[in-house]
Amino acid sequence: MAARWCALAAASAACATPSERGRGGGAAAAADRAARRAGWPWLAPAPTLCAVQHADAAPPAAYVTPSAWALAQAPHRDELLVEQAHLEKKAAAAAMQFLFRVPAPAAALRGLSALAREELAHFERTLRLLDRRGVPFGPQAPAPYAERLKQGCARTMPERLVDELLVAAVIEARSHERMQLLADARRADDVELADFYADLVGAEARHAPIYVELAAHVLPTDAVAARHTALLAHEAAVLRALPFAPRLHSGAPAEA
Ligand SMILES: [Fe+2]
Ligand SMILES: [Fe+2]
Repeated sequence: MAARWCALAAASAACATPSERGRGGGAAAAADRAARRAGWPWLAPAPTLCAVQHADAAPPAAYVTPSAWALAQAPHRDELLVEQAHLEKKAAAAAMQFLFRVPAPAAALRGLSALAREELAHFERTLRLLDRRGVPFGPQAPAPYAERLKQGCARTMPERLVDELLVAAVIEARSHERMQLLADARRADDVELADFYADLVGAEARHAPIYVELAAHVLPTDAVAARHTALLAHEAAVLRALPFAPRLHSGAPAEA
């Protein structure tokens, strides 16, 4: 699908075409050069001309989860729900941290703030579902997925910040895929749980592009797109190496 380009920041009076961005001219580029000379490139002011690829232009996932993964999770629904609460809490915390680190304009940060609040609402909703089902919420060993994804991130700024934002996008996109599979798999035998996952799916679909768009306030979109593709390939390798487990981001069952 062809990439579409849009104005994201409230300050953006007009959208730049891809070729205009390729030239890298204008006030944004000057501000970027000044910040680089100062040694703090990742604190460069957000571009006044923004060109951000929409989610429908995001590179495709390099790994597709087999439906057997969701079927194999059937006996583990309580453990998955406890993990869901932890994941929502972590997602809110990650969004809050990015609020302090990403040099994006107010409009983009408002979207990130709304995302953080939405993750907390998901956390509270998951806790209510656990309560209704009589499942206690408590500590749980985390899956290795997120940590392994971060091992693929650059070590130096500003590339590191972009990679961390893109890892967040990759996790959101994978969560979207997995929750849709769980909603479909539970529809026949657990309507309450199927509805729960189906309701969350829409939010995860909206969250991934928010992180990609934020990354485009740190580095040019072509660099962001290249890192996004590389991190999706890294994620595919991580998932293929992980064993099946009662976790949202586990590997597939051996027979799949
Ligand atoms: Fe969420
Ligand atoms: Fe999310």
